[in-house]
Formats: sequence, C-alpha cells, structure tokens
Amino acid sequence: PDVRPLVAGNWKMNGTRDALGEIKAMAEGVVGPLSDHVEALICPPSTLLYVATALCTDSPLMIGAQDCHQKVSGAHTGDISAEMIADCFGTHVILGHSERRTDHAETDHVVRDKAAAAYQADLTAIICIGETAGERDSYQTLDVLKRQLDGSIPDGAHAENTVIAYEPVWAIGSGLTPTNEDIAVAHAFMRSELVRRFGDEGKTMRILYGGSVKPGNAEVLMGIANVDGALIGGASLKAADFLAIYSVY
Ligand code: G3H
Repeated sequence: PDVRPLVAGNWKMNGTRDALGEIKAMAEGVVGPLSDHVEALICPPSTLLYVATALCTDSPLMIGAQDCHQKVSGAHTGDISAEMIADCFGTHVILGHSERRTDHAETDHVVRDKAAAAYQADLTAIICIGETAGERDSYQTLDVLKRQLDGSIPDGAHAENTVIAYEPVWAIGSGLTPTNEDIAVAHAFMRSELVRRFGDEGKTMRILYGGSVKPGNAEVLMGIANVDGALIGGASLKAADFLAIYSVY
C-alpha cells in the first residue's frame, strides 16, 4: 500500500526566538516535487508554536507540539490542551515520548487518553514507544512494544490521525542505533500488530524510527522495510541537517 513518509523533528526543550531563523530556512527548504510525496514536521517548544506556524504559511512544512493534556480545559497549571495546539495552527502532537514517560511518569493509559484528546481537536497523534537497554538485553523488546501499542493507542486510531514512533530508549541522543536487522524485525512486528488490531488502516499507519538519526545514517535507516520516516531529535535543530535527512527520499 502507498504510504507517504513523514520526516519529523522534535526540538525537545531547545529553542528560543533566536532559533526561528532555522524554522524559516526549513520552511523555505521543504518545497518542490519532494514535498508532494514526503511530509515534513517540526515540533518546537510550545512557546514558539504560534510564531512558528506563522513562518510556514507558504510552505508545506507542518508544525506540531511535544505534549498535550488529556483533558479539554481546567485546573491543570502549566499544561496545554490539544485545542490550544490546534488554535496555534499546529497539526500534530508527540505523545508518550520516553522522556515524558520518565520525567512525568506517563503511563500507557495516560498516553492513550492524551491521544484521544488529540483526535477530538483534529490533531494527528505521534505515539512514541520503545524498549530500554535493560529490556533489550533481556530479550523483551517485542513484548514491550506489544504492551505499549496495546495500551497507548485508542480505539479511534486510523492511518490519518495516528503515527507510531519507535524509539529504543537507549538509542536516543546516544549516537547508537539498533542493527538494520533489529529495526526490520521490530517494524515488521509493529506492522503485524497494527494490522491485527486496525485491519487495512494498520497497513498504512506510519511507523517512524527515532534514535540518533543523522544525515549520515538516514538513507540506510529510511530504506528499511516498514520504516515510514523518522523522528529526529538533535539533528532537527539545524535546518541544514534536517533538510539533508528529508532529502534522502
Ligand atoms: O524524539 C526524538 C528522539 O528522542 C531522538 O532524539 O535524534 O537526538 O537521538 P535524537
């Protein structure tokens, strides 16, 4: 089936107004025939959301957020809602990143509720899953992926409103990546789980790989079967690196 890859950047807690020039350069770089068949997305900190989308009005580059609350509104100091992201013209929200699972004790159940909130606001949820080094070393990777897929994806998921990002926790920011074979096995497993639960929608639901994706390894990683794009941390901060990865397609 036809799947349009997604190259997504997660700026994490990096970027002040000084960094808007990078978003402008990315917006200018995501053009031409490539932009018709590969989607590009940057998720800056929420403080930059509104101004970032304003820089992208003439570009197919999309802007998203890194988290949302599971409730629509109310007494949740410091949180932002899915509707607020949509109100800033954001189109996507990253949910359940391992850093949020660790720093904020987010469980699969919370991630699932957040994804349901994202759907209500017409956002696409990028649901992150992945095993720790300890889980990998004890051969639990596929069990962990199954548990996280089952627990974190709401029933209303389909290929347009949901993207899965597989990020082995030990590969994030470490310069390490799994072997190509291990990535292929993990992605084939996730594909079969998505098809089992969502039927045809599961065939075209995108599964991104994340964890130390760089311009130098992107072409090989993006060429692995069932890898439908990338979720990029460090290498998404500079337009030159981000556009180099986007251009491998
Ligand atoms: O969300 C992005 C990932 O955590 C990957 O980060 O590319 O810096 O390893 P990284």
